[in-house]
Amino acid sequence: MSLFSAKVLLNLFLFCAVLAHSQTPKSVFDSQGMVASRSAIASEVGAKILASGGNAIDAAVSVGFALAVTYPSAGNLGGGGFMVIRLADGQLIANDHREKAPEKATRDMYLDAKGEIVDGLSTKSHLASGVPGTVAGLIDVLKAYGSMELAEVIQPAIDLAKDGFILDEDLAGQFKRRLESFLNYPASLKVFSVDGEPYEPGDRFSQPDLAGTLERIKLAGKSGFYAGETADLIVAEMKNGGGIISARDLEDYESKWRRPIMGEYRGYKVISMPPPSSGGVLLTQMLNMLEPYELRKLGAGSSEVIHLMIEAERRAYADRAEHLGDSDFYNVPIEMLTSKDYARERFADFDPNKASVSADIFAGVAAREGLETTHVSVIDAMGNAVAYTTTLNLSYGSKIVVNGAGFLLNNEMDDFSAKENSPNAFGLLGRKANAIEPGKRMLSSMTPTIVLKNEKPLLVTGSPGGSTIITTVLQIVSNVIDHEMNLAEAVSAARFHHQWQPDRVIHEKTAFSDTTKVELAKMGHKNLNEVPAFYGGGIGDGNSVLSTDIGFQGMADPRNDGAAVGPSTLNAD
Ligand code: GLY
Repeated sequence: MSLFSAKVLLNLFLFCAVLAHSQTPKSVFDSQGMVASRSAIASEVGAKILASGGNAIDAAVSVGFALAVTYPSAGNLGGGGFMVIRLADGQLIANDHREKAPEKATRDMYLDAKGEIVDGLSTKSHLASGVPGTVAGLIDVLKAYGSMELAEVIQPAIDLAKDGFILDEDLAGQFKRRLESFLNYPASLKVFSVDGEPYEPGDRFSQPDLAGTLERIKLAGKSGFYAGETADLIVAEMKNGGGIISARDLEDYESKWRRPIMGEYRGYKVISMPPPSSGGVLLTQMLNMLEPYELRKLGAGSSEVIHLMIEAERRAYADRAEHLGDSDFYNVPIEMLTSKDYARERFADFDPNKASVSADIFAGVAAREGLETTHVSVIDAMGNAVAYTTTLNLSYGSKIVVNGAGFLLNNEMDDFSAKENSPNAFGLLGRKANAIEPGKRMLSSMTPTIVLKNEKPLLVTGSPGGSTIITTVLQIVSNVIDHEMNLAEAVSAARFHHQWQPDRVIHEKTAFSDTTKVELAKMGHKNLNEVPAFYGGGIGDGNSVLSTDIGFQGMADPRNDGAAVGPSTLNAD
């Protein structure tokens, strides 16, 4: 038995001992496939698709539709997402169904007469929404690489919306906390409250209007959303609320096939999302900067490794602000940014004993509300793997439900740079590369990622968390490759994050020991801030799958209430 598999078994034993005391198993093994997502109900939907002979693409699409029902803060019909796929025959594919700016959008649409950003316009208004892409993307992916019909994979979502499901504390609590932000929108209040009163755990939550929209998609495919009754309802919602998405915007929306970013790290291939996401480029860039250093020897959690990662993050996020945007509109120097030579040059000023100082462009900002996006990892026994990240942007998007259609609209327009060097909700800066233009896709941080070992899928991962998505994925990948952690350890390990500006490190409570904190401070890392409460006390939600000698290990991030479910696990119930 190899050292790695012996370690896996030992860790499995230790982890099972922990699980014996825990209510919800977060890590499971299954030789037939695996689905890990933020919603236990949606993971089960995906595992059932695998159990009935569907492939990972069928399962991912089915989970995508189910999440719009069972995890409405981020699962969506009115938002967008990215899917990175490795097919059993070795093909690597990325589907971009990011929202795009409506044709009537303008560069300065969120500025007042004095050129200042109007607070809330890009996050809490009908103008906050980009043209939704999720439905087009899911249907295109299914048609190209799935093995099942749309009617089969969408049916579980329809049933869940129509018949409802029992709310747990997690979801009922979310609705309660959000109630105030739905008050201005009667259609939102109708969905997420009982006549204005909060739902309680144990209540049945059904969504008849959403079921109707899903039925129309089942019957007419993309036209069930981008034309006919659903499109009419979206346009009417826009007219009533002063938004600008038109029937033509909806009709014209197309998902795009992209060439994934293909990095290499210590002999592993790291496949991730290209622009309009910054995720794949930055992940590759940071791994390239770290590669010359012996992270394993330095030790996980050591001040040396943390310092290296912070400095890689600082430089990569500075490049993000300057260079990253929708590559259909702006010439993003992808090759340069992802090359080993560039990483060497960019990291040449790294001082192992001293923190660099990010240019002092603006004071640190705190995001104004909870961040939300969600990630699904799927693998099947045939060798197909799917990393899928989807979002409305902030939690529950714009908070605006389309009247009569039952789904939330995104507030993704905030991911554009509304004004040069002014922070968005995640404190991220941008310039010309990410300025608003009609039809352009706003820059994302979503990083759905598949790591290949000997050309076979080893790790499928990704996360929500706005700007922290990329550094969360970096840490999971490094934990597996550098520190040889099993998946339970790699996903559970406490996280930290730096994004160049604001010049501070945010970290989970246990990420740094007292000694490490002192050592980091000595190097000049003065702003070590425990993660603010609005993050929910943790960074990221890395629902992931790892291929091991004893089957696929699925891990739902223990920071949240997700679940990993395999087809055999399901049969055993
Ligand atoms: N809306 C978060 C992201 O795409 O990065």
